[in-house]
Amino acid sequence: MKKHLYINGTWKEAKEYQALTSPFSKEVIAQIGQADRDDVEEAIEAAKQATAIMAKMPAHQRATILEKAAAIMENRKEELARLLALEAAKPLKTGRAELARTIQTYKFAASEARSIHGETVPLDAAPGGEGRLAFTVRKPIGVVGAITPFNFPYNLVAHKVGPAIAAGNTVVLKPAGQTPLASLVLAEIFEEAGLPAGALNVLPGKGSVVGDALVTDPRIAAITFTGSPEVGISLKGKAGLKRVTLELGSNAALIINDDVELTQELIDRCTFGAFTFAGQVCISVQRIFVHESKFADFVEKMKLAAEKMVVGDPLDEATDLSSLIAPKEIDRMEEWVSQAQSLGAKVVTGGKRLAERLYAPTILTDVPTHAKVSCQEVFGPLVMIAPFSTLDEAIAMVNDSRYGLQAGIYTNNIHAAMKAAEELEVGGVMINDFPTFRVDNMPYGGVKESGFGREGIKYAVEEMTELKLISIKL
Ligand code: SIN
Repeated sequence: MKKHLYINGTWKEAKEYQALTSPFSKEVIAQIGQADRDDVEEAIEAAKQATAIMAKMPAHQRATILEKAAAIMENRKEELARLLALEAAKPLKTGRAELARTIQTYKFAASEARSIHGETVPLDAAPGGEGRLAFTVRKPIGVVGAITPFNFPYNLVAHKVGPAIAAGNTVVLKPAGQTPLASLVLAEIFEEAGLPAGALNVLPGKGSVVGDALVTDPRIAAITFTGSPEVGISLKGKAGLKRVTLELGSNAALIINDDVELTQELIDRCTFGAFTFAGQVCISVQRIFVHESKFADFVEKMKLAAEKMVVGDPLDEATDLSSLIAPKEIDRMEEWVSQAQSLGAKVVTGGKRLAERLYAPTILTDVPTHAKVSCQEVFGPLVMIAPFSTLDEAIAMVNDSRYGLQAGIYTNNIHAAMKAAEELEVGGVMINDFPTFRVDNMPYGGVKESGFGREGIKYAVEEMTELKLISIKL
């Protein structure tokens, strides 16, 4: 089945197609058109032309389009979850949860479209500002270049396309190479929902062709990217004066303080946080620091829970985690685990490949901080657990990272909770929950090498609009 490029409201044949292989079954599921420079030029021009229509479209109409898109997804959600299982090896139950979130994200975008507003500014607070009425309005920024990852092919696209449309912008979207189908289906959905031609263009293709053109073209006003720090940092370097939002990686950490009971609910939450979608989540729990009084008990309980996880076919209802997205990722996992072992780490469970692309849920202890599984982003089904004796020590270990996306702390002690909230160097602190917690209207983004700017519709709308001041001399 050939999938063409979506440019200016039409499906355009590409000059070159590439086979898309399902990560679990390895069957070819589609032939994907690969955009070249001419296609990118056509899409950017179409998006630029459509900015006038989108900027004039009333808020209620933008909101209705987003609501219709959400309703179409709701009707097609089972089919869309199956597509995710095929192209991303996302297990059905995990995929259904992503679909539910995506529908919600578009609903949040619809509601935000209706409430974008500015504020009055008391200019007379400054001498010379007397006798004026001043207010701000938020204007659409123009064409947004969106570059999205493979791990949430619907919802992380929704976090870019949703606010862009809510704000009256147009979009050129480059989906991840491994998961273009979810974005191509989105083009169908928005067309049916009534989005004008040119307002959304979908261009699968190489980063060096599509991504680079988006980042350097002066008609693109803003770039929104989710992916690796290496690519994000390079994009930012090339983007010049464009607005840039970067959601990058992390080695998210969780602290379990001495005052909490190790309930099954807590253990299940940690297990889910470490292994859902085989750890291919930016806020996957990668490092757990447990008070030394509870360390041995915690490790034993996590081991039992990890060993109960069902690893296998993403289309099987029972499956908890499936294949990693690409063979090179499982090779990397093997290399990183063996590096950690050579530095003294102990494998509590897992630490091995179960089949060609399936890696066992893995728990390590005694991992030195300079081992790659500790200081880099694993993006695989692996968690390391280490003991601590004081909260200061635990916070220092969490902060000993190039990343800072989200962190969590379980504690019943308000002082410990507030100390962690104050001192953890991250974009979001989850008290009595794991760092993997996210709902789609909260500000989401990191510090350090985890990124720049915030998503979570309202916050993304701020990134995708220009603040304009109007001052009336009375
Ligand atoms: C991510 O991997 O950055 C997204 C996590 C989420 O939306 O739950």
